[in-house]
Amino acid sequence: MSSLDLRGAADRADLRLDARALAELDEVDRRSAILTWRGRMLNEHVSARVFSALARQLERAGIRGDRRARVAAMVAEEWRHADRCAAVVEVLGGEPVIELPSLPPVPEHEDADPLEAVLRNVISVSCLSETVAVALIDAERRSAGPPALQRLLAEILADEVGHARFGWRLLEELAPSLSPALRERLGDYLVIALDELATHELSHLPARASPSTAAEAVGVCDGHAARRLFFATVHEVIVPGLQASGLPALSAWRAAQATGTWAGAMAGAR
Ligand SMILES: [Fe+2]
Ligand SMILES: [Fe+2]
Repeated sequence: MSSLDLRGAADRADLRLDARALAELDEVDRRSAILTWRGRMLNEHVSARVFSALARQLERAGIRGDRRARVAAMVAEEWRHADRCAAVVEVLGGEPVIELPSLPPVPEHEDADPLEAVLRNVISVSCLSETVAVALIDAERRSAGPPALQRLLAEILADEVGHARFGWRLLEELAPSLSPALRERLGDYLVIALDELATHELSHLPARASPSTAAEAVGVCDGHAARRLFFATVHEVIVPGLQASGLPALSAWRAAQATGTWAGAMAGAR
């Protein structure tokens, strides 16, 4: 099995945490923070892989202009995010090395034509996952204690805003030309995509408070607050945004809630 080894990241990012923030962490908090940032490192690596696949799919769908170059830049940004998360692992005293799990291929959607296939992935990646990432990272940035960590999260956040905006703009541009039948099929797809989004996010946001204020200051978030923020982002940003582009997102979200095994978590997060 191969591994992701980003040792030396703290030097590359020139990241130092002040000794006081580190001294406030007990051993349990420190280990918890290392696990959190090592998990983020892996997630960023996965995002880079997803955008690589998206670049190929945009090409196949004949999407022109500078969009393919923009997605290629996003791949590099996700790599840099992985490296920045690795830097935090290092300054916390951990090793930024993680075994790579076997990752499922990025869906090719062979049942759809190239435009519909890429639209499904752009919606799933930018309008869903990256939009949730913007909300969660912004909250983490505001809870971060050390100024160096605030700056690092602000840098990542600025890129994630661009990754989300990319999909929303593309959808907005293409929306007027989408046939009613295609909108309906995208609505069917949204039931699956929203279910997968909730399953994925909730598995990464444990339903527990942050172990301590010191841990929260270095990125171990309050899971209850993060879950509330996740559902608020779906309700207040994602569903209305997709509806505005003529997609039946509200009914898709209701259908996902009716079938998703995570639906009980929503009541608990309110
Ligand atoms: Fe990222
Ligand atoms: Fe991203």
